Amino acid sequence: MNLTLEDLRREGHATIIHMRLPEKIEADRCTLRGLREPSFDMAEKLYAKVNASRDRLCKWLPWVDTIRSVEDEYTRYLVEWCRAHWSAGIGFAYAIVLKGTEQVLGCIDIFNISWEDKSGEIGYWLGDDAVGCGYMQEAVQALEAEAFAAGLHRIVIKNDVNNLRSIHVAKRCGYVLEQILHKGAWNGYLRDTAVWIKAKGAAGRLRISRR
Ligand SMILES: CC(C)(COP(=O)(O)OP(=O)(O)OC[C@H]1O[C@@H](n2cnc3c(N)ncnc32)[C@H](O)[C@@H]1OP(=O)(O)O)[C@@H](O)C(=O)NCCC(=O)NCCS
Repeated sequence: MNLTLEDLRREGHATIIHMRLPEKIEADRCTLRGLREPSFDMAEKLYAKVNASRDRLCKWLPWVDTIRSVEDEYTRYLVEWCRAHWSAGIGFAYAIVLKGTEQVLGCIDIFNISWEDKSGEIGYWLGDDAVGCGYMQEAVQALEAEAFAAGLHRIVIKNDVNNLRSIHVAKRCGYVLEQILHKGAWNGYLRDTAVWIKAKGAAGRLRISRR
């Protein structure tokens, strides 16, 4: 089922703003490729990565258990989430691809975009074979630079207070701890959730080239 703009408005996205982000964002060692139009080839690559990394990812990401086939990846993620949110301008997901290759390392997205508050939230994951190399730090900085340039003033990263790798990404990228939401997210059980924020102007300097 494709979500329409009306569906998204009913879900509470009252102010659809048609924010635009580039479909390709270059970081130093990786490229962020926008998942605007679903492709089965990309679904296969993403599913292979999720499946190979399932044991680690499912500790922190509740959706991982719901993706059990390439068809799930294609329909539920690429079509129903990525395409619908991209076309409404309220969520932008990217595959992180190692430069000079077709190797998908993981995903990053910016979602929960509120034009009234000029805010959005970044989420991310890497496959097992891409952890520990600094790719996510690069990807976060590249995406946030574009999001600030597009008009946002505040970007949030939320993570389980026990998710140390994710916490380190937020800290290394210069995000500041704003609050702890006690029992703030459901993932099998209620998790205490740390809320990290970066305001426009506090963004680090990173050269981004657009194509
Ligand atoms: C969260 C997650 C993306 C972080 O991955 P990560 O590899 O630790 O983060 P980065 O890509 O920024 O890499 C940083 C690590 O690479 C190391 N590194 C190696 N080469 C580097 C380089 N050239 N530049 C920067 N860091 C480098 C850093 O020292 C650091 O390792 P350390 O934490 O052991 O010191 C990953 O753990 C993950 O997919 N987790 C599951 C999903 C998840 O929790 N998502 C977040 C939900 S809120």
